[in-house]
Amino acid sequence: MSSKVFKLIEEEKKRQIEGLEMIPSENYVSVDVLKALGSILTNKYSEGFPGRRYYGGNEVIDKIENYASDLAKKLFKVPVALVQPYSGSPANFAATMAVCEPGDVIMGLSLSSGGHLTHGAHLSFSSIFYKAVNYSVGADWKIDFDELEKLAIKHKPKLIWAGTTAYPFKLDYKKFRDIADKVGATVVADIAHISGLIVGGVHDSPVPYVEVITTTTHKTLRGPRGAMIMVTDLGMKKDPELKAKLERAIIPGLQGGPHNHQTAAIAISLEEALTPAFKKYASQVVKNAAVLAKELGTVSENHLVLLSLTDYGKGMGYQAQYALETAGITVNKNTIPNEPISPFYPSGIRMGTPALTTRGMKEKDMIKIASWIKRALEEIKGLDIPEQKEERAQYIKDTKVSLAKNKNLLKIKEEVKNFALKFPVPGID
Ligand SMILES: Cc1ncc(COP(=O)(O)O)c(C=O)c1O
Repeated sequence: MSSKVFKLIEEEKKRQIEGLEMIPSENYVSVDVLKALGSILTNKYSEGFPGRRYYGGNEVIDKIENYASDLAKKLFKVPVALVQPYSGSPANFAATMAVCEPGDVIMGLSLSSGGHLTHGAHLSFSSIFYKAVNYSVGADWKIDFDELEKLAIKHKPKLIWAGTTAYPFKLDYKKFRDIADKVGATVVADIAHISGLIVGGVHDSPVPYVEVITTTTHKTLRGPRGAMIMVTDLGMKKDPELKAKLERAIIPGLQGGPHNHQTAAIAISLEEALTPAFKKYASQVVKNAAVLAKELGTVSENHLVLLSLTDYGKGMGYQAQYALETAGITVNKNTIPNEPISPFYPSGIRMGTPALTTRGMKEKDMIKIASWIKRALEEIKGLDIPEQKEERAQYIKDTKVSLAKNKNLLKIKEEVKNFALKFPVPGID
């Protein structure tokens, strides 16, 4: 234990156990998942797929990858599951490559409405190599399917993304299907945020309505960082080549050797997701988010709360993130639908319950946490973002420094720490 890195890992352990981790895309993995990630499986090269590798010595790796894939098929009830994508973004790139030719039209929810970068955002591969058209949410913050339909009829997309990254409502996959059928598009559901809620039985599965599903494995699913691409029966029926196209997109299209330690850790997390305890977990995640949202004056139907801070002032996302960080509560600044200030200085924060729920926190704990959040947010009043754009960066820097010394926030941090330490984190003593 001589490397500086191990000291830093100890430092990070302290941060993870003493604070409240409320980034909705984060979670705490089990000790078994950690063990697989830290195993000798990282030593092996295995380019290709089980039974079809470029290198020798893969007889055990083949068994591990087949096992992970079989578990995913069972859990999601799909005929095809590819477990090699390194993470969510490359999985989405591979899915796009399999369905589209460069230059084809793709459609996804805009970033400012809660969509993901890979669904057609500016500067992402998805708008550099494809013609991206974005749909958005309406005044009720829900996907505007009328707009989506009009845009689809006008632009004739090859692919429509059904998936979100900062969206607190359930998705109606049938509506995506109906629109896609009118224009001959393929629907890819990106369930990265909610895959744990789907396998836990608290959210509907997109399987009957879409051809392809992508998901990260490290969010509500509570596995290692990684991703999977699945094909449904509908997808295989419409295009029997889809599995082969996806495989080719992964390798040689995008990736080289798979991360076998990651594949093994995915298999362990999928075993865990098949247990009754995981169903209870997923249902508690949603119950906790609903209570948290209610206490903060909003609503949530999934694992995350998107909070507008316009009542506190103008462009308050950064200030809120920093104030809460000083108070030991980790959230992220986020645009709100129809963002009134700027994507760079957004007006909201996004927070979630997956990690807190893994630690065993329940509804009554959410009430306590909401009251700390509200107390911390009082401290940002009057810290509105300057009107002059060129003053903003320096203002935020200075505000961060002053919030880090704020006595009221540091007092909340102590209270948060005493509370948080009562809830264990797997892998941290
Ligand atoms: C909906 C969605 N898709 C894809 C991704 C990308 O995953 P990764 O960060 O693993 O590339 C994310 C990450 O936040 C996401 O929210």
